[in-house]
Amino acid sequence: MHTILVTGGAGFIGSNFVHYMLNTYPDIRIVNLDALTYAGNLENLRDVESDAHYVFVKGDVRDKETVDRIFENYGIDTVVHFAAESHVDRSITHPEVFLSTNILGTGVLLDSAKRHWSLRPDDKYCREYQDGVKYLQVSTDEVYGALGKTGMFTETSPLSPNSPYSASKTSADLIVRAYGETYGLPVNITRCSNNYGPYQFPEKLIPLMIHNCVQNIPLPVYGDGMQIRDWLHVSDHCSAIDTVLQKGRIGEVYNIGGNNEKANIEIVRLILHATGKDESLIRYVKDRPGHDRRYAIDNTKITTELGWTPKYTFEQGMADTVQWYLNNTAWVEHVVSGAYQNYYKEMYEKA
Ligand code: NAD
Ligand code: DAU
Repeated sequence: MHTILVTGGAGFIGSNFVHYMLNTYPDIRIVNLDALTYAGNLENLRDVESDAHYVFVKGDVRDKETVDRIFENYGIDTVVHFAAESHVDRSITHPEVFLSTNILGTGVLLDSAKRHWSLRPDDKYCREYQDGVKYLQVSTDEVYGALGKTGMFTETSPLSPNSPYSASKTSADLIVRAYGETYGLPVNITRCSNNYGPYQFPEKLIPLMIHNCVQNIPLPVYGDGMQIRDWLHVSDHCSAIDTVLQKGRIGEVYNIGGNNEKANIEIVRLILHATGKDESLIRYVKDRPGHDRRYAIDNTKITTELGWTPKYTFEQGMADTVQWYLNNTAWVEHVVSGAYQNYYKEMYEKA
């Protein structure tokens, strides 16, 4: 039986991953370490909280003692590191916490994994680890920077991050790589494109636009709305991570994407249509500083080498997602009460 430390399991992708793994593997154990920042929400996990295969620990990935204690108490053999500050706009106004959580937090986890999994922890030349252990870093296509009108990111594209968020994720990737190279720690890095689906915090494009449509609030489109993102349903991201855990070659990076490039304005129009609203709600606002123009993932490596394919079409995924937010208004209302209102005012009233 594998015991997986999932960090950030109360966030958007992490909570979907916890569900995915518990539903897929009857003999798995998951320990979810989450600090419950504004983005962490235990309501995402209500249905699994009394599952005997699931444990929640409230704590910070930067806290070495907590992380060490989890390794010791639960016999962790796999780490899937989601926990991060994840929103580009927040990284522009408050970069410090991104550097601290995303970079230092990754360092703490790697070091604890190395010490607990090493066959000879006091021998600096030891490159041997317990059988079957793996550390998987959940990274992002944003580490590659921005594309022009053509081309796609491959795993060998230069790292060229443009925002404090993406720079912090790139730094973390490089530390993971260093632990693989220097200590022989069994690591993988996955770099996924934009996710959408249930439980996404409505600071991100898709849930924000759905919420605003429902509330008849203007839809803030940055710049000309022609920036392109490559969208993937979150459950396909989860199955890709699972595939890399099972079959990924040690030390390798795998890009994850579903070939769904869309301009932001297309997404906004699709949501207007799906919620029965008209284009008079659209407001073009000041652009995000340093806004990456286009992302596109070449997924050849993971599809051909590991046999992963996404299940969702974009059309089906978006239809299901809009419906999920319409069906779960209580979840949305809870999430947007309190601090979200201040964030929204600060973020959009000046735009
Ligand atoms: P999210 O913001 O929804 O969730 C982040 C989670 O991490 C929250 O539960 C939060 O409480 C927790 N967290 C934050 N700081 C912590 C700390 N110091 N200690 C412990 N827990 C902490 O993020 P998400 O969108 O689910 O993204 C998860 C991961 O996937 C991130 O690493 C992100 O970079 C990566 N990623 C996201 C996307 C996307 O489209 N959302 C795409 C590719 C990669
Ligand atoms: O590409 C993967 C990345 O996708 C992840 O690493 C990040 O964690 C995740 O937040 C996401 O980053 P983006 O910046 O692409 O996502 P966001 O939802 O913030 O914005 C998507 C696009 O929509 C982007 O071009 C900015 C634009 N946008 C966003 C918001 C919130 C708007 O035009 N208006 C908005 O109000």
